[in-house]
Amino acid sequence: MNRRVLSGIRATGRLHLGNYLGAVKGMLALQADPNYETFYMVADLHTITTPYDPKILKENVREVILDYLAAGLDPQKSVIFIQSQVPQHTELGYLFSTLVTVARMQHLPTFKEKVKQHPENVTMALLNYPVLMAADILMYKASLVPVGIDQEPHLEIAREIASKINSRFGLAFPEPQRFATSGEYVPSLTGEGKMSKSVEGSNIGLSDDLAAIREKLAKVPTDSGSGNQVPTEGGVATLLTLVELFEGKEKTEQYRKQYQTEGIKYQDLKNELAEAIYQELKPIQERRLEFENKPEMVDKIIEEGNEKARQEAQKTLSEVKQAMGLI
Ligand code: TYM
Repeated sequence: MNRRVLSGIRATGRLHLGNYLGAVKGMLALQADPNYETFYMVADLHTITTPYDPKILKENVREVILDYLAAGLDPQKSVIFIQSQVPQHTELGYLFSTLVTVARMQHLPTFKEKVKQHPENVTMALLNYPVLMAADILMYKASLVPVGIDQEPHLEIAREIASKINSRFGLAFPEPQRFATSGEYVPSLTGEGKMSKSVEGSNIGLSDDLAAIREKLAKVPTDSGSGNQVPTEGGVATLLTLVELFEGKEKTEQYRKQYQTEGIKYQDLKNELAEAIYQELKPIQERRLEFENKPEMVDKIIEEGNEKARQEAQKTLSEVKQAMGLI
Protein backbone atom coordinates (compact mmCIF):
# COMPACT_ATOMS: atom_id res chain seq x y z
CA MET A 1 0.00 0.00 0.00
CA ASN A 2 1.13 3.53 -0.74
CA ARG A 3 2.25 5.59 2.19
CA ARG A 4 0.20 8.65 3.01
CA VAL A 5 1.27 12.26 3.44
CA LEU A 6 -0.68 15.15 4.94
CA SER A 7 0.17 18.78 5.42
CA GLY A 8 -1.61 22.09 5.86
CA ILE A 9 -1.07 25.81 6.19
CA ARG A 10 -3.23 28.28 8.09
CA ALA A 11 -5.22 30.86 6.14
CA THR A 12 -3.52 34.05 7.22
CA GLY A 13 -3.02 35.41 3.70
CA ARG A 14 -0.57 34.81 0.89
CA LEU A 15 2.38 32.55 1.61
CA HIS A 16 5.92 33.75 2.30
CA LEU A 17 9.32 32.17 1.65
CA GLY A 18 9.28 30.44 5.06
CA ASN A 19 6.06 28.60 4.16
CA TYR A 20 7.36 27.86 0.69
CA LEU A 21 10.78 26.55 1.65
CA GLY A 22 9.78 24.85 4.90
CA ALA A 23 6.48 23.28 3.86
CA VAL A 24 5.45 23.66 0.20
CA LYS A 25 8.76 22.42 -1.24
CA GLY A 26 8.43 19.25 0.82
CA MET A 27 4.80 18.91 -0.28
CA LEU A 28 5.94 19.14 -3.91
CA ALA A 29 8.74 16.60 -3.45
CA LEU A 30 6.38 14.02 -1.96
CA GLN A 31 3.70 14.71 -4.55
CA ALA A 32 6.26 13.84 -7.23
CA ASP A 33 7.06 10.49 -5.58
CA PRO A 34 4.70 7.76 -6.81
CA ASN A 35 5.19 5.86 -3.54
CA TYR A 36 3.10 8.45 -1.71
CA GLU A 37 -0.52 9.49 -1.68
CA THR A 38 -0.62 13.17 -0.78
CA PHE A 39 -3.33 15.18 1.06
CA TYR A 40 -2.84 18.92 1.32
CA MET A 41 -5.30 21.20 3.06
CA VAL A 42 -5.87 24.77 4.16
CA ALA A 43 -6.10 24.75 7.96
CA ASP A 44 -8.92 27.29 8.37
CA LEU A 45 -10.04 25.81 11.70
CA HIS A 46 -6.56 26.38 13.07
CA THR A 47 -6.67 29.93 11.72
CA ILE A 48 -9.51 30.86 14.06
CA THR A 49 -7.59 29.81 17.20
CA THR A 50 -6.01 33.30 17.22
CA PRO A 51 -7.75 36.66 16.58
CA TYR A 52 -8.91 36.98 12.95
CA ASP A 53 -11.32 38.88 10.74
CA PRO A 54 -14.31 36.73 9.68
CA LYS A 55 -14.90 39.05 6.72
CA ILE A 56 -11.65 38.05 5.06
CA LEU A 57 -11.21 34.46 6.24
CA LYS A 58 -12.69 32.91 3.08
CA GLU A 59 -10.58 35.22 0.94
CA ASN A 60 -7.49 34.10 2.80
CA VAL A 61 -8.40 30.44 2.36
CA ARG A 62 -8.60 31.14 -1.37
CA GLU A 63 -5.19 32.87 -1.31
CA VAL A 64 -3.56 29.75 0.12
CA ILE A 65 -5.28 27.48 -2.40
CA LEU A 66 -4.09 29.76 -5.24
CA ASP A 67 -0.55 29.77 -3.85
CA TYR A 68 -0.65 25.97 -3.58
CA LEU A 69 -1.72 25.60 -7.20
CA ALA A 70 0.69 28.27 -8.38
CA ALA A 71 3.59 26.58 -6.60
CA GLY A 72 2.78 23.32 -8.38
CA LEU A 73 0.42 21.31 -6.21
CA ASP A 74 -1.43 19.24 -8.77
CA PRO A 75 -5.03 18.15 -8.22
CA GLN A 76 -4.35 15.13 -10.47
CA LYS A 77 -1.77 13.94 -7.98
CA SER A 78 -2.79 15.42 -4.62
CA VAL A 79 -6.07 15.78 -2.79
CA ILE A 80 -6.32 19.54 -2.20
CA PHE A 81 -9.02 20.52 0.30
CA ILE A 82 -10.27 22.85 3.02
CA GLN A 83 -10.16 21.53 6.59
CA SER A 84 -13.52 22.93 7.75
CA GLN A 85 -15.27 21.40 4.74
CA VAL A 86 -14.41 17.96 6.10
CA PRO A 87 -16.32 18.03 9.40
CA GLN A 88 -14.87 14.65 10.40
CA HIS A 89 -11.71 16.52 11.47
CA THR A 90 -13.51 18.28 14.30
CA GLU A 91 -15.14 15.07 15.42
CA LEU A 92 -11.92 13.08 15.45
CA GLY A 93 -10.26 15.99 17.23
CA TYR A 94 -12.84 15.72 19.99
CA LEU A 95 -12.34 11.97 20.33
CA PHE A 96 -8.57 12.46 20.51
CA SER A 97 -8.95 15.13 23.19
CA THR A 98 -10.09 12.40 25.56
CA LEU A 99 -6.58 10.93 25.38
CA VAL A 100 -4.54 14.03 26.19
CA THR A 101 -4.07 15.86 29.48
CA VAL A 102 -4.43 19.60 29.90
CA ALA A 103 -1.00 19.75 31.55
CA ARG A 104 0.71 18.21 28.52
CA MET A 105 -0.84 20.83 26.24
CA GLN A 106 -0.07 23.74 28.55
CA HIS A 107 3.63 22.90 28.57
CA LEU A 108 4.10 22.94 24.81
CA PRO A 109 6.47 25.72 23.69
CA THR A 110 4.18 26.53 20.74
CA PHE A 111 1.26 27.09 23.15
CA LYS A 112 3.33 29.26 25.47
CA GLU A 113 4.45 31.38 22.53
CA LYS A 114 0.86 32.00 21.40
CA VAL A 115 -0.15 32.88 24.98
CA LYS A 116 2.60 35.49 25.00
CA GLN A 117 1.48 36.88 21.63
CA HIS A 118 -2.24 36.98 22.50
CA PRO A 119 -2.61 36.95 26.29
CA GLU A 120 -6.24 38.01 25.96
CA ASN A 121 -7.10 35.03 23.78
CA VAL A 122 -6.09 31.88 25.64
CA THR A 123 -9.04 29.78 24.50
CA MET A 124 -9.89 26.09 24.64
CA ALA A 125 -9.38 25.96 20.87
CA LEU A 126 -5.86 27.30 21.24
CA LEU A 127 -5.07 24.69 23.88
CA ASN A 128 -6.55 22.04 21.62
CA TYR A 129 -4.58 23.18 18.53
CA PRO A 130 -2.14 20.23 18.51
CA VAL A 131 -4.96 17.73 19.11
CA LEU A 132 -6.86 18.96 16.06
CA MET A 133 -3.60 18.85 14.12
CA ALA A 134 -3.11 15.23 15.19
CA ALA A 135 -6.63 14.51 13.93
CA ASP A 136 -5.75 16.13 10.57
CA ILE A 137 -2.72 13.89 10.19
CA LEU A 138 -4.01 10.60 11.60
CA MET A 139 -7.33 10.96 9.74
CA TYR A 140 -5.47 10.00 6.57
CA LYS A 141 -3.07 7.64 8.39
CA ALA A 142 -0.24 9.83 7.17
CA SER A 143 3.24 8.66 8.10
CA LEU A 144 5.02 11.73 6.69
CA VAL A 145 4.25 15.39 7.29
CA PRO A 146 6.13 18.07 5.32
CA VAL A 147 6.37 21.04 7.71
CA GLY A 148 9.02 23.39 9.08
CA ILE A 149 11.00 22.58 12.20
CA ASP A 150 8.76 24.81 14.37
CA GLN A 151 6.00 22.19 14.02
CA GLU A 152 8.04 19.37 15.63
CA PRO A 153 6.38 19.69 19.08
CA HIS A 154 3.00 19.22 17.38
CA LEU A 155 4.19 16.10 15.60
CA GLU A 156 5.33 14.71 18.91
CA ILE A 157 1.76 15.08 20.19
CA ALA A 158 0.44 13.34 17.07
CA ARG A 159 2.82 10.43 17.74
CA GLU A 160 1.77 10.25 21.38
CA ILE A 161 -1.90 10.18 20.41
CA ALA A 162 -1.26 7.49 17.76
CA SER A 163 0.58 5.34 20.24
CA LYS A 164 -2.09 5.79 22.93
CA ILE A 165 -5.02 5.07 20.69
CA ASN A 166 -3.27 2.03 19.24
CA SER A 167 -2.47 0.50 22.60
CA ARG A 168 -5.74 1.39 24.29
CA PHE A 169 -8.15 0.56 21.47
CA GLY A 170 -6.25 -1.93 19.34
CA LEU A 171 -5.88 0.33 16.29
CA ALA A 172 -2.89 0.63 13.95
CA PHE A 173 -2.18 4.30 13.28
CA PRO A 174 1.34 5.08 12.02
CA GLU A 175 3.44 7.39 14.21
CA PRO A 176 3.95 10.32 11.82
CA GLN A 177 7.39 11.77 11.15
CA ARG A 178 8.29 15.22 9.87
CA PHE A 179 9.57 15.39 6.29
CA ALA A 180 12.30 18.01 6.45
CA THR A 181 13.47 20.27 3.62
CA SER A 182 16.74 22.22 3.45
CA GLY A 183 14.65 25.31 4.29
CA GLU A 184 13.15 23.83 7.47
CA TYR A 185 14.05 27.03 9.33
CA VAL A 186 14.09 30.23 7.28
CA PRO A 187 15.37 33.12 9.38
CA SER A 188 13.73 36.54 9.52
CA LEU A 189 14.93 39.45 7.37
CA THR A 190 15.16 41.45 10.60
CA GLY A 191 17.96 39.13 11.72
CA GLU A 192 15.99 38.00 14.76
CA GLY A 193 13.97 34.79 14.95
CA LYS A 194 12.26 33.09 12.06
CA MET A 195 10.60 34.52 9.00
CA SER A 196 6.93 34.93 9.85
CA LYS A 197 3.69 36.45 8.69
CA SER A 198 3.04 38.36 11.88
CA VAL A 199 6.35 40.20 12.23
CA GLU A 200 6.46 43.35 10.09
CA GLY A 201 9.43 43.41 7.70
CA SER A 202 10.44 39.81 8.44
CA ASN A 203 9.35 38.12 5.23
CA ILE A 204 9.43 38.02 1.44
CA GLY A 205 6.08 37.05 -0.09
CA LEU A 206 5.63 34.50 -2.86
CA SER A 207 3.89 37.27 -4.82
CA ASP A 208 6.58 39.94 -4.34
CA ASP A 209 8.03 41.38 -7.54
CA LEU A 210 11.73 42.08 -8.09
CA ALA A 211 11.47 45.67 -6.85
CA ALA A 212 9.75 44.59 -3.62
CA ILE A 213 12.32 41.84 -3.02
CA ARG A 214 15.16 44.32 -3.59
CA GLU A 215 13.60 46.82 -1.23
CA LYS A 216 13.12 44.22 1.51
CA LEU A 217 16.66 42.86 1.17
CA ALA A 218 18.04 46.41 1.25
CA LYS A 219 16.67 46.73 4.80
CA VAL A 220 18.38 43.59 6.15
CA PRO A 221 20.88 44.83 8.75
CA THR A 222 24.51 44.07 7.92
CA ASP A 223 27.99 44.83 9.30
CA SER A 224 31.32 46.09 7.94
CA GLY A 225 31.52 43.04 5.68
CA SER A 226 34.69 41.42 6.96
CA GLY A 227 36.21 39.80 10.01
CA ASN A 228 37.66 36.57 11.39
CA GLN A 229 34.35 35.01 12.32
CA VAL A 230 31.49 34.81 9.84
CA PRO A 231 28.36 35.75 11.86
CA THR A 232 26.06 32.86 12.76
CA GLU A 233 23.17 35.10 13.75
CA GLY A 234 21.66 38.44 12.78
CA GLY A 235 21.06 39.91 9.33
CA VAL A 236 24.30 38.66 7.76
CA ALA A 237 23.49 35.08 8.79
CA THR A 238 20.01 35.48 7.29
CA LEU A 239 21.50 36.69 4.00
CA LEU A 240 23.94 33.77 3.87
CA THR A 241 21.15 31.27 4.58
CA LEU A 242 19.07 32.75 1.75
CA VAL A 243 22.10 32.67 -0.57
CA GLU A 244 22.54 29.00 0.25
CA LEU A 245 18.86 28.22 -0.36
CA PHE A 246 18.58 30.14 -3.64
CA GLU A 247 22.11 30.20 -5.07
CA GLY A 248 23.64 27.05 -3.61
CA LYS A 249 26.31 25.96 -1.14
CA GLU A 250 29.26 26.89 -3.33
CA LYS A 251 28.19 30.49 -3.57
CA THR A 252 27.76 30.67 0.21
CA GLU A 253 31.27 29.28 0.68
CA GLN A 254 32.63 31.96 -1.65
CA TYR A 255 31.00 34.66 0.44
CA ARG A 256 32.30 33.12 3.66
CA LYS A 257 35.84 33.18 2.30
CA GLN A 258 35.33 36.70 1.05
CA TYR A 259 34.15 37.77 4.51
CA GLN A 260 37.41 36.51 6.00
CA THR A 261 39.60 38.05 3.29
CA GLU A 262 38.85 41.11 1.14
CA GLY A 263 35.31 41.58 2.53
CA ILE A 264 31.77 41.29 1.18
CA LYS A 265 30.07 44.12 -0.73
CA TYR A 266 26.55 43.67 0.60
CA GLN A 267 24.97 45.71 -2.13
CA ASP A 268 26.24 43.26 -4.75
CA LEU A 269 25.28 40.26 -2.64
CA LYS A 270 21.77 41.62 -2.11
CA ASN A 271 21.27 42.43 -5.80
CA GLU A 272 22.34 38.98 -6.90
CA LEU A 273 20.24 37.33 -4.22
CA ALA A 274 17.16 39.37 -5.19
CA GLU A 275 17.57 38.20 -8.80
CA ALA A 276 17.95 34.58 -7.73
CA ILE A 277 14.86 34.68 -5.51
CA TYR A 278 12.82 36.39 -8.21
CA GLN A 279 13.90 33.82 -10.82
CA GLU A 280 12.38 31.10 -8.64
CA LEU A 281 9.21 33.06 -7.87
CA LYS A 282 8.48 34.34 -11.38
CA PRO A 283 7.03 31.12 -12.83
CA ILE A 284 4.97 30.67 -9.64
CA GLN A 285 3.56 34.17 -10.05
CA GLU A 286 2.75 33.54 -13.72
CA ARG A 287 0.93 30.33 -12.87
CA ARG A 288 -0.96 32.10 -10.09
CA LEU A 289 -2.31 34.59 -12.57
CA GLU A 290 -3.59 31.77 -14.76
CA PHE A 291 -5.49 30.23 -11.85
CA GLU A 292 -6.80 33.62 -10.71
CA ASN A 293 -8.33 33.98 -14.16
CA LYS A 294 -10.11 30.63 -13.96
CA PRO A 295 -12.16 30.84 -10.75
CA GLU A 296 -14.63 28.10 -11.79
CA MET A 297 -11.81 25.68 -12.36
CA VAL A 298 -10.39 26.45 -8.92
CA ASP A 299 -13.86 26.00 -7.36
CA LYS A 300 -14.08 22.59 -9.00
CA ILE A 301 -10.63 21.54 -7.78
CA ILE A 302 -11.62 22.46 -4.23
CA GLU A 303 -15.01 20.73 -4.40
CA GLU A 304 -13.50 17.52 -5.74
CA GLY A 305 -10.73 17.63 -3.16
CA ASN A 306 -13.20 18.18 -0.32
CA GLU A 307 -15.29 15.25 -1.50
CA LYS A 308 -12.33 12.85 -1.77
CA ALA A 309 -11.08 13.94 1.64
CA ARG A 310 -14.53 13.46 3.21
CA GLN A 311 -14.71 9.91 1.86
CA GLU A 312 -11.33 8.94 3.27
CA ALA A 313 -12.00 10.75 6.53
CA GLN A 314 -15.28 8.96 7.13
CA LYS A 315 -13.54 5.57 6.94
CA THR A 316 -11.09 6.47 9.70
CA LEU A 317 -13.69 8.19 11.84
CA SER A 318 -16.00 5.15 11.74
CA GLU A 319 -13.12 2.88 12.62
CA VAL A 320 -12.19 5.01 15.64
CA LYS A 321 -15.79 5.38 16.83
CA GLN A 322 -16.25 1.66 16.64
CA ALA A 323 -13.02 0.95 18.52
CA MET A 324 -13.99 3.49 21.20
CA GLY A 325 -17.34 1.83 21.68
CA LEU A 326 -19.50 4.58 20.22
CA ILE A 327 -20.95 2.64 17.29
P1 TYM B 1 1.47 27.74 9.69
O1 TYM B 1 0.44 28.40 8.87
O2 TYM B 1 1.88 28.41 10.92
O3 TYM B 1 2.79 27.45 8.91
C1 TYM B 1 2.74 26.84 7.66
C2 TYM B 1 3.99 26.07 7.36
O4 TYM B 1 5.08 26.93 7.08
C3 TYM B 1 6.18 26.55 7.87
N1 TYM B 1 6.95 27.75 8.20
C4 TYM B 1 8.28 27.83 8.11
N2 TYM B 1 9.22 26.94 7.71
C5 TYM B 1 10.50 27.32 7.71
N3 TYM B 1 10.90 28.57 8.10
C6 TYM B 1 10.00 29.50 8.49
N4 TYM B 1 10.40 30.72 8.84
C7 TYM B 1 8.63 29.14 8.51
N5 TYM B 1 7.50 29.81 8.84
C8 TYM B 1 6.48 28.94 8.64
C9 TYM B 1 5.60 25.89 9.10
O5 TYM B 1 6.53 25.06 9.72
C10 TYM B 1 4.45 25.15 8.51
O6 TYM B 1 4.89 23.93 7.94
N6 TYM B 1 0.09 23.94 12.48
C11 TYM B 1 0.40 24.19 11.07
C12 TYM B 1 -0.85 24.06 10.22
C13 TYM B 1 -1.45 22.69 10.27
C14 TYM B 1 -0.85 21.48 9.86
C15 TYM B 1 -1.80 20.45 10.14
C16 TYM B 1 0.38 21.16 9.31
C17 TYM B 1 -2.69 22.38 10.75
N7 TYM B 1 -2.88 21.04 10.67
C18 TYM B 1 -1.53 19.13 9.86
C19 TYM B 1 0.65 19.81 9.02
C20 TYM B 1 -0.28 18.82 9.31
C21 TYM B 1 1.01 25.59 11.00
O7 TYM B 1 1.56 26.04 11.94
O8 TYM B 1 0.88 26.28 9.93
